[in-house]
Amino acid sequence: MKDYGNPLTHVVSIPPYPPGRPTDAVAREFGLDPASIVKLASNESPHGVAPGVIAALAEVDAASNIYPDFDCYDLRHAIAADVGMAPDQVLPGAGSSEIILLAARAYLDGTRKAIIPQYGFQSYEGAVRSVGATPVFVPVKDWVPDIDAMLAAVDDDVHLVYLASPNNPTGTVLPRAEIERFAQALPPHVLLVLDEAYREFLAPEDRPDIARLFQMRRNLIVMRTFSKIHGLAGLRVGYGLGDGELLQVLRRLQLPFSVSAQAQAAAIASLSDSTFLERNRVENESERARVAAALEKAGVRILPSGGNFLLLEVGDGPAISRELMRRGVIIRPVANYGLPTWIRATIGLPRENDVFLGALDEVLRAAG
Ligand SMILES: Cc1ncc(COP(=O)(O)O)c(C=O)c1O
Repeated sequence: MKDYGNPLTHVVSIPPYPPGRPTDAVAREFGLDPASIVKLASNESPHGVAPGVIAALAEVDAASNIYPDFDCYDLRHAIAADVGMAPDQVLPGAGSSEIILLAARAYLDGTRKAIIPQYGFQSYEGAVRSVGATPVFVPVKDWVPDIDAMLAAVDDDVHLVYLASPNNPTGTVLPRAEIERFAQALPPHVLLVLDEAYREFLAPEDRPDIARLFQMRRNLIVMRTFSKIHGLAGLRVGYGLGDGELLQVLRRLQLPFSVSAQAQAAAIASLSDSTFLERNRVENESERARVAAALEKAGVRILPSGGNFLLLEVGDGPAISRELMRRGVIIRPVANYGLPTWIRATIGLPRENDVFLGALDEVLRAAG
């Protein structure tokens, strides 16, 4: 790096975030028609956006010369009504990715540590390292975060824990009772960030009762996103829920106007369409079961998933991913998570899933 001065060592140590490969890039590399490509690489929704979103966007687009409402007044009120909390207990961000980062910046520095369960979402490590703090990875037990081991890893220097359920990339779900046990037992000086990016894909009775969690501890942020079941990944909007005073601390660090007017308007419109959301959940559940059954029948090991994706064991993950790409199917290799024999595939439309299953069958046969 000698030509670039001296960037901070802790920044250089951040593993680059490997996004799902864009359709156009894969089309160029393999000489494919972009329209023929099936992208199941980023846990995006295959169901588009709620009809009301299109109208809401058309209305805002005309005012793109104006900064958005940094206070996100209408969106905070809409979310508050939806989740049964107060508007000052809602902090919208540019995707939940922004909340992940704000939590790290508010609670961590070079002297502090954060606990991340093994196979936790990669952005957690990036956020922790970005402020020079030390990530403490705690091994999972039977593929789910080991609550007792995480509690045992807490000391005075640990100030943050990231915990996702369902987790990405494994899809595994931590039972409600375990999340509650953790929320109760975690010492009060540690901020618990509970990541519910995939919450809406769970059956309503399996979703954590966050009112109970907030009764158990105040040092808690629950994160959600509009990128997944709402189908608004391209607009970048998510939010954190927590005590107003705590959120105000994070807000000091927020990039001004990070949530665009389009994102705010679309999120409000999407929240109001419960029929659309429920249909997406049901379709995901039935397609996920169908794809899982087909994979199991083919002898492919998969993990039980509560999200809109499956983690499957295929042998040489990166090589299989490449062969699938050559056939116009983009999925996600997960070697960067220490899972070189696995790949992650998003649940798409029935036709897309069939293309994926067909291509995988071909590739696995060729690999012997
Ligand atoms: C577990 C988890 N958390 C957070 C995010 C970030 O999503 P966004 O920034 O789009 O809200 C993702 C995205 O894939 C995720 O899988």
